[in-house]
Parts: sequence; structure tokens; C-alpha cells
Amino acid sequence: MSAGSCPVARSVSAGAAAFDPFGERYQADPPASLRWSRDEEPVFYSPEIGYWVITRYADVRAVFRDNVLFSPSIALEKITPVSAAATRKLAEHGYAMDRTLVNEDEPAHQPRRRALMGSFAPEALAEHEPMVRELAREYVDRFVDAGEADLVDEMFWEVTLTVALHFLGVPEEDVPTLRKYSIAHTVNTWGRPSPEQQVEVADAVGHFWRYAGEVLAKLRADPSGPGWMPCSIRLQQQMPETITDSYLHSMMMAGIVAAHETTANAAANAVKSLLENRSAWDELCADPSLISNAVEECLRHNGSVAAWRRVATADAEIGGVSIPRGAKLLIVNSSANHDERHFDDPDGFDIRRDNAADHLTFGYGSHQCLGKNLARMELQVFLEELTKRLPHLERVPGRELTYLPNTSFRGPEHLWVRWDPAANPERRDPGLLGREHPVRIGEPVRRALARTVTVDAVEPVADGVVSVTLAGSGLPRWTPGAHIDVELGELSRQYSLCGDPADPDRYRIAVLREPGSRGGSRFVHDRLEAGQVLRIRGPRNHFRLAPDAGGHVFVAGGIGITPIIAMADQVRAAGGTYEIHYCGRGETTMAFLDRLREDHGDALTVHARGDRLDVAALLAEPVPGGQVYACGPRGLLDAIEESMRHWPADSLHVEHFGAVEALLDPAREHAFDVELADSGGTVAVPANGTLLSALRAAGVDVPSDCEEGLCGSCEVAVLDGAIGHRDRVLTKAERAAGRSMMTCCSRACGSTLRLGL
Ligand code: HEM
Ligand code: FES
Repeated sequence: MSAGSCPVARSVSAGAAAFDPFGERYQADPPASLRWSRDEEPVFYSPEIGYWVITRYADVRAVFRDNVLFSPSIALEKITPVSAAATRKLAEHGYAMDRTLVNEDEPAHQPRRRALMGSFAPEALAEHEPMVRELAREYVDRFVDAGEADLVDEMFWEVTLTVALHFLGVPEEDVPTLRKYSIAHTVNTWGRPSPEQQVEVADAVGHFWRYAGEVLAKLRADPSGPGWMPCSIRLQQQMPETITDSYLHSMMMAGIVAAHETTANAAANAVKSLLENRSAWDELCADPSLISNAVEECLRHNGSVAAWRRVATADAEIGGVSIPRGAKLLIVNSSANHDERHFDDPDGFDIRRDNAADHLTFGYGSHQCLGKNLARMELQVFLEELTKRLPHLERVPGRELTYLPNTSFRGPEHLWVRWDPAANPERRDPGLLGREHPVRIGEPVRRALARTVTVDAVEPVADGVVSVTLAGSGLPRWTPGAHIDVELGELSRQYSLCGDPADPDRYRIAVLREPGSRGGSRFVHDRLEAGQVLRIRGPRNHFRLAPDAGGHVFVAGGIGITPIIAMADQVRAAGGTYEIHYCGRGETTMAFLDRLREDHGDALTVHARGDRLDVAALLAEPVPGGQVYACGPRGLLDAIEESMRHWPADSLHVEHFGAVEALLDPAREHAFDVELADSGGTVAVPANGTLLSALRAAGVDVPSDCEEGLCGSCEVAVLDGAIGHRDRVLTKAERAAGRSMMTCCSRACGSTLRLGL
């Protein structure tokens, strides 16, 4: 029974009633059109389409993750019911599109995916890079002296289609016809064609189906060539039950669409976003090492797959809302990508955003896009060639963008750009044509994402403590508790931000001179002065305020006050209940005391010499819903952790800045296996390598940052197995619960772990 015909009476809010994914608002900007839903009703039933619509990051990811409860079988179903005439037309062509990979259920899906993964391994993909680059250059050559071009028509559609055909191992003689067919397939699957259009579209789709059959027959006659389809045909001979005839024919057609239109649209969206954020474009022109992360930010901010579909195979709950068995779900990944619960300043465009690659544009879990790294490669090459050869590119004013109305595939139909050919840099410097930046296959490296700032002031704020103000333009917004990484000579150090989060031009940190310093604090105190240029990374936040807390207790030891200031400011501004306990050796050593007394007088208790904080007494009684935030020396944090054993597990939040306890010593480690519950398969972790690097080599995206067990970015869920924790992020309760681990440093105690990946 479809959810559309579900007889259960349900009340529909005004927002849900007005939702129309074929209407102007969604078509113009899907995430903006669903902001109301993310805020007020993140899971709602849409009578217009008969689907449940899911819009928040955590819920969208949870649905993607569970491909048994939420089956992908309807992913390629026609979202608009097909007319009898269109059905007849499709039948005339013998159209029998069946399961491929993307809409196949378990247990059939995993063995098929595993059998066909080889062509997507990093080494196999690297072989395609010269072809992608050559094509991109050839197409830019065609228009570079013209001064104006429609990048969609004159480059992206054809290059991505040609790459897709090469990858699939299909002859490329029919590029223009295939373009027409692809558009028809999109309208047929995710569009709302009128009854007359339906027949026309069905005819084109029927031809596409026949064409796919003919190509397949040709390849079957000689399957010895390179490419994914010949490889699949060869594999069919070994495993005919897994790789069926129906699969091959359906995949022949769906594979072209999966690889082509998604990437062409993504390229057009990326150039549009970058040109609308000119400073980002200019930065890529100056520093191509930023391109790989910029690609992720483009996919997050303005991805080419706006929504995907699943169907509930049993009664379920999503985000606290009951969903009946048989309910169809429109999971709006583009909305999830703009969810402020996961991405700071989500509507902002930041090519250095450190969690940009967390976007859900490629889906997530066991069906996550197999072609993601090929698409990433193409997008990097396009952006590199365009920024290098046409840095003065701009949109042609007055050319409005139009989109093919549909729920899922999203990109402008045309993208007109112009430039002055006389100013093309290659006319002055032909050598630049041969220059190329290495393409990054897979997730971008976060460590490369530094930005430059100028030291504005270095001022003493207590004995042995200086405040450093850093100036830059358009600095990303940050949330209280965030820190930045500052590169100081050879070293990189983390410092909490303690200025005004709303100031886009200035960051402020405070640095204590540490006698045992490995050089970081010495550098700041002895060598840093106004006017110097520094490289910083972040901001990042692993020390966030908990929402809906029943009161906040802040405990700071010494320089640990820095993150607490902005956190307390925010709680005060929101009218929340809080207290601050600030401990120090003596008032002259305690930074920002006057400011704290002025702004937080009643809530502040100073524990200076002679008035030690009695941690056990302070935390003797758990406060219902109360949250404790602590930053300071190890001894203080240990005492707090100890005193809070009887508090609910998630009540304590700790910020650590210190080296990891145990780094990898291959002589003392043992190898182990990890089973991946969400995406299937087993990954072997050698004694001389980290779990993080083994996962990456297997094509599993796991973000990372410090790679020292300090920051929490590489955390993954653990479903089974004993963990040897070596990080500084998890609390004792979290370690004991054994539900997650940091992949950069922690390992298995035994021979296997089962991960929620
Ligand atoms: C699946 C997006 C490029 C091949 C998917 C899914 C999405 C997606 C949303 C479904 C994921 C899920 O259900 O969790 C994209 C985007 C692309 C892109 C945004 C470009 C920017 C490509 C390319 C190829 C490809 C270039 C092939 C060379 C596939 C395949 C699947 C898939 C085979 C099915 C995987 C499975 O179900 O196991 N893609 N894709 N995609 N994509 Fe892509
Ligand atoms: Fe920072 Fe693992 S990358 S804890």
C-alpha cells in the first residue's frame, strides 16, 4: 500500500500542505525552500506527492544507513504516475528496466556491489586521470579565444558523458543522441511531465533502452576490452546468479545516467557557486591545492542530487515521528547539507570548511555512490583547468538560470560565462598549459586547508598570558567552544577562540607561556608581533553547548577559561541558568577576570590561591538535565570526571589540548579485521597501520583532523567487539559503553570489530 493511499487520518501542517517539489520555490533552491521544515517539522507527510519528506541531517543519514528498514527499491520508480498511453509506448520498445545496484535490496545487492567494485579502486581510477584531463583541455581549447561560452553545452555535458562512456567501456559515437535520452530518463523518473509530454518522454526512454540493449550485444560479442561493462560481462560468466542479464541491460542504461548527468550538473553548480563567491574563485586561481576541498563544499552547498528515495519495509520511527510500513520517503539530502545542527553557518560558502565532505550528496552507507571518486576527479580537473586558463571568467549578466523541473537531479540547463581573451594568461605564459596539480582521489586532506591572517595585536592580559588578535577578511563564523589550529613555525597548536563570534574580521585567542613548551607558546610570547602573517586552520568545535540543558556549570582552570567565555556569554544572552567556577594560582595569573566580573558577576566564583574549588562538593548532586563543561589541567579534569561517575552519561563535556597517550608502535600491535555493517565487507587493519588509513584505502570516507586522538573528527560507531581506546576525546563512561572509537589511534583488543560504517 502506498503512503499516498494510506487511510490513516493525519493532520497536515500549512507548510506540509504547501510543499511542492515541482514548484518554483523548491526548484529555485531546495534547501532554502525547506528551511521551515528543518526548524519546525523535520519529518512531514506531503499530500501533494504522497511521500514522507525528511529534511534534517541526522534523520536523512539514518535513513540512508538502514537499507533494510528503508529499502532503496523505489529509487528509480517514476515519481509521477504513468499514463496508459506512455505505458503502451514503453511496452512497444520492450522496456523492462529492472533492479541495478542503486535500487537493489539485500541480500542481492552486497555481493553484486562487491563483485563490481574493482573498477572504482583508487589505482584503477588513477588510470583515467590523463583521459579526463585531455578531454577537459580539448574542450577549453575550443572556446578559449571566443570570449563567451555556455559551459554546460560547450563542455560539461559532453566531457562528462565521454568520460562516463570511457569508464563504462562503451563506444562514444552517439554523444548527442545520448544527451537527449538522458534528459528523458530524468523527466521520466523524477519529473512531472504533462500527459502529452509523457508519451514523448516514454518514446525517448524506450529508444534509450533499445540503444542500451544494442551496445550490450556488441560488447557481449567481444567483452575483452577495458571498462566497467566489459568487466561486468566477463564476471557474469563466473557468477551468473549475481550478475544477471536483466541487471546488465538495466545497468547499461542507468550507469550512463548515474555517471553522466550527476557529474555534468555538479560541475555547472560548482562553477556557479564559485563565481557567485568571487573571493573563493580567486583563491582557487591563486592556490590550486584548495580545489579538492572546494569541490566538497560545492557538492555540499549546491549538490547535483537534491533528494533521493526509500520505502519503509516495516513500521518505523524517524526523528520521533511514526512512519507506517509501505510509506514512501523523499530524503532531501540537499536540505540535510544545510542543516545547522551539523554544519556551522550552513548557508555560508567556505571552501576551507573542515567538514564539507560530510555532505550527503553521494548518499551514505551501503549504497553510497560508487562513482564518487571518479566524479571528484572530474570536478577537480575541470576547476583546475578553468581557474588556470580563465581566471577572469564571470557570469554573463542577464542570463537567468533555468532548471529541468524534477525532485532529484539538479543543475542549470545552461551556464553562460564571458572573459576577455586578450587577457588570457596563456597568451603571456604558454608554459602554464602544461602545469597541473595532482588530483586527490578520495576525501580531501583537511590539514591542507589553512588560511592566512595577520596578527593585529599581541597584548598581555595576565602574568604569563598574552591575548592575540588575528585579522582577516570574511573569516568563517564560529560557535562558542570552537578552536583554531595555528601554525607556528614547524609546529601547529590548538587555541580556543575567546573573542566575539559575530565579528567576521577578527579572531582572538589567549596563550599561556608554558615552561615545558615544545616551542608553541614560546614562539607566541617571544616572537609574535603585530603585522606578522600566520596560517590558521578551522575553526572547529568539539566543545559545544548542549541544547535544551537544564542548567550549565562551567569549570575553568587557568588558561582553560578561553573557550568558557564565549560559551557563558551565549548562555547569558539566551537567558539560561549557569555558573562559572574559575580556578587559578592567583588573581594576577588569571586572564580576563575583570571582563568576567563585569559581565558575569553573579554567576562567577573565583577560586584563587587559598580558596580551592571542592570539586566533589560542587558535583555531589546531579542536576536534572544539567551539563558540566570543563577545560583546564589534567588533574582538574580527572577530578571532575571522577566526581561525576553518578551523573547521567552525557553530562560532562571536556576540552583537551595535549598529545595523545599512545602512538602506533608496530612491534607491540596486532593486526585485526573490521566488519562494516552499513556498507558491507571486511577491512583488514595491519599491525603497522591505523584503522583510519585502512578504511580510507578501502574507499570508506572517514573525516580526520588531528590524527592524534585529540579532536574527535574520526569517530565511528562500534556495534560489536572490544576496543582499545587511546584517544583523549571520549569520557570514561563513553569508553566503558564501547559504542564508538577514534579510528586514527584506537584499535581492537581482539581480532575483530564490527563498525557502524
Ligand atoms: C549511487 C550521487 C557520480 C555511479 C548514487 C547515489 C547518489 C549518487 C545520491 C545513491 C546513494 C545511496 O543510495 O546511498 C552521485 C553524484 C555524482 C555521482 C552527486 C556526481 C557528482 C557517479 C559516477 C558514477 C556513479 C561518476 C559512475 C562512474 C553510481 C553507482 C551507484 C550510485 C553505481 C549505486 C551504488 C549502490 O547502490 O551500491 N550516486 N553520483 N555515480 N552512483 Fe553516483
Ligand atoms: Fe582527531 Fe582522530 S583525527 S581524534
